[in-house]
Amino acid sequence: MNYFVVCINVLPSKNMAKVKYYYQCNVCGAATSKWVGQCAECQSWNTFQEVLQEKHSANANRFRQHLSVKSKVVSLADIEHEETIKTQTGIKEWDRVLGGGLVKGSVTLIGGDPGIGKSTILLQMLASLQIRASMQSLYVTGEESAEQVGLRGKRLGIPLDGLRILTENHLEKIVEAITREKPSLVIIDSIQTIYSDLLQSAPGAVAQVRECAAQLVRLAKQTDIAMVLVGHVTKEGALAGPRVLEHMVDTVLYFEGDSSSRFRVVRAIKNRFGAVNELGLFAMTDKGLKEVNNPSAMFLSRHEEDISGSIVMVTREGTRPLLVEVQALVDQSSLANPRRVVLGLEQNRLSMLLAVMHRHLGAVTHNQDVYVNVVGGVKISETAADIAILMAILSSLKDKPLDRHLLAFGEVGLSGEIRPVQNGIERLKEAEKHGFTDAIIPVSNAPSQSIGQLQTHTIKQLSEILQFF
Ligand code: TYD
Ligand code: MG
Repeated sequence: MNYFVVCINVLPSKNMAKVKYYYQCNVCGAATSKWVGQCAECQSWNTFQEVLQEKHSANANRFRQHLSVKSKVVSLADIEHEETIKTQTGIKEWDRVLGGGLVKGSVTLIGGDPGIGKSTILLQMLASLQIRASMQSLYVTGEESAEQVGLRGKRLGIPLDGLRILTENHLEKIVEAITREKPSLVIIDSIQTIYSDLLQSAPGAVAQVRECAAQLVRLAKQTDIAMVLVGHVTKEGALAGPRVLEHMVDTVLYFEGDSSSRFRVVRAIKNRFGAVNELGLFAMTDKGLKEVNNPSAMFLSRHEEDISGSIVMVTREGTRPLLVEVQALVDQSSLANPRRVVLGLEQNRLSMLLAVMHRHLGAVTHNQDVYVNVVGGVKISETAADIAILMAILSSLKDKPLDRHLLAFGEVGLSGEIRPVQNGIERLKEAEKHGFTDAIIPVSNAPSQSIGQLQTHTIKQLSEILQFF
């Protein structure tokens, strides 16, 4: 009897719980007792939101549940070989970003603007896996009705028998359905619409998104289910919800580019099973997303004649080289602070390159607006684009067209030196395949053997590019 009295005193009773609030950063999840304008952890501004402090009993209950599950210790040597557990989806470009296929017990997070094609590609993937691998799947939708998803499936012309759907927002019911149905693949569309009873905050709030994702990740790992979570993006284009979401999952895929263009670029931002920055290229058609057969041609706009302010470079995102056209427009500015606009590049990189160009080539742009665009909506994050960007800007500034069969790649240093880039030969071969005749490259990237009809011009210093104008 005494024993019971002690227990009751230790566990917090409902009546004892006091309603308390704290503040949480919706970018990184850092918590403070008072509202602050800037997060001390991730330096973001205006990201703190009021969150109701959860009752201890919720955590205590969960803790007890976990105690009943025995943890298994295994030898690393006994773990199944990677190849055997990757299931190819049959959609080549999708497999490429996934790192070869779907992995059992893995969790993939997919982000992108509304209407870009997240639900479409996932439905196509389910149908393909059903046919190829007879994979039992469950599509959980918290955003659309079963009819809407069914109609989309009909429109895509995919076989719908065998595809199971659950329209539910409630985490506990979803977990119950998954445990009952035992699918090997689960899609959650989207994680922001799911809520748990254990928390009192509204669906989509930081605490809810984090907790629901954590529970689903745990379920996927324990039961070996491959899980795909769809995530919303914020106005700035980042995945909504705490940054920790990206740490919790194995793979983060992101739809780049704008939804007004026909082409869709999927990038692997993080991948525990494959190359990071890998790109998957698709075109949106009336029958859903179709793989692009000749990806290099996708980012080139065909010009009949040489035009100023345009040059092609070879970028290497992930494991494949891609030909990308860089365009620049330099125009007299009427503003006190001339405009510097970039699309598909980093703004700071452009400022740095303009400074290098001024110092080492004497080209003045402080009274000019400078616009730089990467054709096709792809983002270039590597420094190999430096020479191409500078040549496009110079070409527009001088209004001198460059030969349309010329391409350039290489990094530019602050003292005007040209630095080598990785996989030079592979880039040159890709250029040659597409009929380019001349390439401006860093001297250290000079190939030891000639590459078909392609002539290489090696440079050491930035000033050497002037000879091509
Ligand atoms: P959807 O997958 O619903 O986007 P998300 O889930 O990322 O919000 O895609 C919707 C868009 O795709 C919509 O604008 C219509 C277009 N679409 C096509 O062009 N063809 C198709 O076959 C389908 C199914 C959609
Ligand atoms: Mg959707």
